[in-house]
Amino acid sequence: MIEIHREAGVETLRLNRPAKKNALTGEMYTALAEALERGNADPEVRVHLVCGVPGAFTSGNDIADFLAFAADGNMADAPVVRFLRALAACETPIVAAVDGLAIGVGTTMLFHCDMVFASPRALFKTPFIDLGLVPEAGASLLAPARMGHSRAFELLCLGESFDPVMAKAAGFVNHIAPEEDLEARALTCARAIAAKPAEAMRLSRSLLIGDRSALRERMEEEIRLFAECLRSDTARRAFAAFLDKAGKTG
Ligand code: COA
Repeated sequence: MIEIHREAGVETLRLNRPAKKNALTGEMYTALAEALERGNADPEVRVHLVCGVPGAFTSGNDIADFLAFAADGNMADAPVVRFLRALAACETPIVAAVDGLAIGVGTTMLFHCDMVFASPRALFKTPFIDLGLVPEAGASLLAPARMGHSRAFELLCLGESFDPVMAKAAGFVNHIAPEEDLEARALTCARAIAAKPAEAMRLSRSLLIGDRSALRERMEEEIRLFAECLRSDTARRAFAAFLDKAGKTG
């Protein structure tokens, strides 16, 4: 469900679970985390390119997994947490190609990417509050810094959908490209990054990101609150309602 392909310094991580609109499972998070961690330690990996399937970058965390966390209440060693920490600690540049749905972590992971290409039908949405949850992946810190409080509030607290034009204006999409050209454009960009002096690239990226301690602290705070919220009746009811609608329970 995560296809990994490496070519000339570009490691492509393809989310590939089309039947579920690329909803992310523990297994998928583990594969992504391992790839990011490996990339940090492997000078052959110059850049990661993250992409999905036609029409779905990802519909976010698998809701059935959310319900399981709500039941056992333990997120500390969850694959999603490992993935989020790996993302925040990543030293390798990340390019993303977003075609279609980018829900929840599908949007928040983009704040850790260096170059984001989106198709005209891309849709960015973080329905955390409607699910009784709080933002994750450091988005509560990174989004207001990127787009200002008001737009971050619309995205993260109101759960408004952003189209690619809004996302570009908000500063988390670099370029909009037609579906049929999207991955080629993103790959060209990734290859250009891979062709540059690797050490200077990593050092420069690290300088742009700056001190990561505030990000790490915020992320841990979000994880703590997220785990608390997951156990709430509001969240459980929201997950059950989604799964009921999809005919998965009762
Ligand atoms: N977790 C688990 N399953 C999911 C999912 C998710 N996040 N997103 C989609 N799916 C499943 C659906 O249950 C459905 O499964 P089925 O075919 O076995 O019934 C399949 O993927 C296709 O989804 P569907 O809802 O029929 O597609 P759609 O185009 O009508 O709607 C979404 C797509 C993404 C808008 C809708 O599925 C949705 O709202 N998903 C939940 C998104 C979410 O809240 N994510 C968590 C963010 S914190």
